[in-house]
Amino acid sequence: MSTTEVRDEPSHANGILPPNLDLPYPDSPSEITANLLKLTELAPNPRARIVFKSLISKLHEFISQTNITTEEWRSGIEFLVGLNEASAPRGRQLNLLSDVFGMTALVDRLNNPRIGNATESSLLGPFFTEDAPDLLFGESIASEGIGENMFVEGRVLTTGGEPIPGAVIDTWETDGTGLYDMQHAERTVPDYRGRLRTDGEGKYGYRAIVPVSYAIPGDGPVCRLLQSLGRHNVRPNHLHVVIHAPGFHKLVTALYPDGDPYLSSDVVHGVKKSLVVKLTEIDDEAEARKRGFQKGTKFKLLNYDFVLVTEDEWAGARRT
Ligand SMILES: [Fe+2]
Repeated sequence: MSTTEVRDEPSHANGILPPNLDLPYPDSPSEITANLLKLTELAPNPRARIVFKSLISKLHEFISQTNITTEEWRSGIEFLVGLNEASAPRGRQLNLLSDVFGMTALVDRLNNPRIGNATESSLLGPFFTEDAPDLLFGESIASEGIGENMFVEGRVLTTGGEPIPGAVIDTWETDGTGLYDMQHAERTVPDYRGRLRTDGEGKYGYRAIVPVSYAIPGDGPVCRLLQSLGRHNVRPNHLHVVIHAPGFHKLVTALYPDGDPYLSSDVVHGVKKSLVVKLTEIDDEAEARKRGFQKGTKFKLLNYDFVLVTEDEWAGARRT
């Protein structure tokens, strides 16, 4: 093309032509929103139209309702820029932002509604790994040393109370200092995590430690924001569990021993009442040895039956 020819569209334009719409100039606040909603109505994907029109409406409503100042908006943008820079390489801070403002929990709640007596879901979190060792009934997910002895046992059942044999249970927790194995720089092998299968009667059992509460990483923009809002950055004690079984909806959940002062104000809003459990203290050497504990006479017993829903039960209950 010679430099004297008129181009059809500016360089780097994406090829989409101006819309054939009678749009007013966006002189007023309401016209800015209305024009954008009309433009979004042109999105070819119907689901994208629904999602983005709602998102735009809510964001614009927020800006108008708070009558936000230019300085406040700029500081918000600067916060997101800092978040992005601090997120490398795995987007951790962006995920945390979603978590601490309850958005991850809300998405989880909507996607996993309460179904009868089925075990409710909780947040997966960032510390699941694929390399958990396979364990036999009664073996320990945790190396000896850090933490108070706990034995976890129960069954995996259908909503009708039938056992589910061969269900695969992934479970993980922090050590007694509140750190996951992957948070230790010297991690060479997985620890405080394991994978088990239920037996022919749907039973499972394993040694672990009593979970402890822990703070989410405290040196990034999200924790500084929490501090400025007067909010703590602590997750209450919990034991993560994911259960797979053919024909059943994957259960991603966690159990929360009662008595932790952070339960109802969990920084990531992951606790549900039905997931708060009681630990029974056992002080009996024979019982301790029977469950494989080599040292001491005391341990805490966590007995819990997980109830899975079928894929059909889940699909029928999920709000569309
Ligand atoms: Fe966790």
